[in-house]
Amino acid sequence: MMFRMKRESWGSRLGFILAVSGSAIGLANIWRFPHLVGQYGGAAFVLVYLIFLILLGFPLLVGEISIGRNTSKSPAASFRQLGGKGWGAVGGLTIITGFIVSGFYSAVAGWIVGYLFESLQGNLTNFTTVTEAKEYFEGWMSSPWKTLGAQALFLGMATLILFYGVRKGIERANKILMPLLFFLLFFLFVYGLSLPRSNEAMKFLWNPDWTALTPAAILAALGQAFFTLSLGQGTMVTYGSYTPKSENLIFSCLPIVVMDTIVSLVAAGTIFTILFSVGSEGESGEALLFHTLPFVFSEIPFGFLFAPLFFLLVMLAALTSEVSALEPTVAFLMDRFGWSRKKAVAAAAAGAFLIGVPCALSPNVLSHIQPFGHSILSGLVTLGSDILIPIGGLSAALLIGWRWKGKRFIEEVSTGSKELFHKTKWLKPYLIFCVKFIAPVLIGIVLIQAFVT
Ligand code: PHE
Repeated sequence: MMFRMKRESWGSRLGFILAVSGSAIGLANIWRFPHLVGQYGGAAFVLVYLIFLILLGFPLLVGEISIGRNTSKSPAASFRQLGGKGWGAVGGLTIITGFIVSGFYSAVAGWIVGYLFESLQGNLTNFTTVTEAKEYFEGWMSSPWKTLGAQALFLGMATLILFYGVRKGIERANKILMPLLFFLLFFLFVYGLSLPRSNEAMKFLWNPDWTALTPAAILAALGQAFFTLSLGQGTMVTYGSYTPKSENLIFSCLPIVVMDTIVSLVAAGTIFTILFSVGSEGESGEALLFHTLPFVFSEIPFGFLFAPLFFLLVMLAALTSEVSALEPTVAFLMDRFGWSRKKAVAAAAAGAFLIGVPCALSPNVLSHIQPFGHSILSGLVTLGSDILIPIGGLSAALLIGWRWKGKRFIEEVSTGSKELFHKTKWLKPYLIFCVKFIAPVLIGIVLIQAFVT
């Protein structure tokens, strides 16, 4: 049985744009993108990534948001309404995906919260070698109380925002936190540019190295385009369900993708100028944020000030994304069981915490448990981002392109932007062709590759 309560909606176009951007801009932009660019050939990687944003990211973002807006329902009910009975389960899977992501994301974001506190206490700026910084991080991670406590704190902040609802919680938080994030990033970027060897850092980043553009690099670019726009996990369908019909989806999604991309590029510039200033060329994964950067902050002028600002920046980015990863579950519990928002938020956050616990304990108490040769955390990350998210994206593309059909999809998108479709003749064939053909083929390749390896 479905309960129909009056559905909340975004209060303004700016609120909608900032909320969706808040979801999109997260750890993937500030942490993952810089190391991918460094590893896979600088501008060569960026070029491929931009192509995927045009062919896949933007059309699917518009597509997922329009599914939600058309039905004003959470993903399971949306998929069922547009696709027929079996599709409800597919939509349900996207909610589960977002839920799993919210669990492991909270554990990883917990490390950032922990390091924000460490940096505020001045503990991250006394290292004389990278090895010392690495040992300090390993010490921090070996404490289950610290990893768990930080995760709980992070989830607590997300819960608080969600409690207040769509407009007064999610929208308002993004309206405050996103400008703060942009300001911090800009400030750190200018600081990075002022450091010695910043020219070399920028050259290293923006000179294309075509030989680094391996098949692995191309798949990584595709996965990044997907993950950074929060596609395939019910988030954008849910945010779409709060979007008024008058909204011009093309005009509001375009700045979102552009902002998301600019933040990624500026974050890469910031991190590499800071690293190069002490002659380091960076490492990937945890090492980049938790070994190399704290060492660098120990070396550079005013590192004690910039270290907390940096970790605050990353935490804000992660927080607005976490909120959006939880919201599909919240919306589902409210729609399906008629729960109050507070009850639904409490249940979703408690569930995310439970999934996050083994992740938070995977570097310490549970480090000996290694299913399929992965730690619990990396196993869940792989399951979520390499398998479930592509499945979610593929199903959204198939639903839009082949069940709901191009004509109705375009009708929905053009509600609020009829003029635009009239004037820009290529817009319609572009969106339909990408969603119907290009997206399924590209995502299919990603999935086959994930299962093969
Ligand atoms: N888009 C977020 C990022 O770039 C990731 C994310 C958002 C994950 C929403 C889950 C749900 O980090």
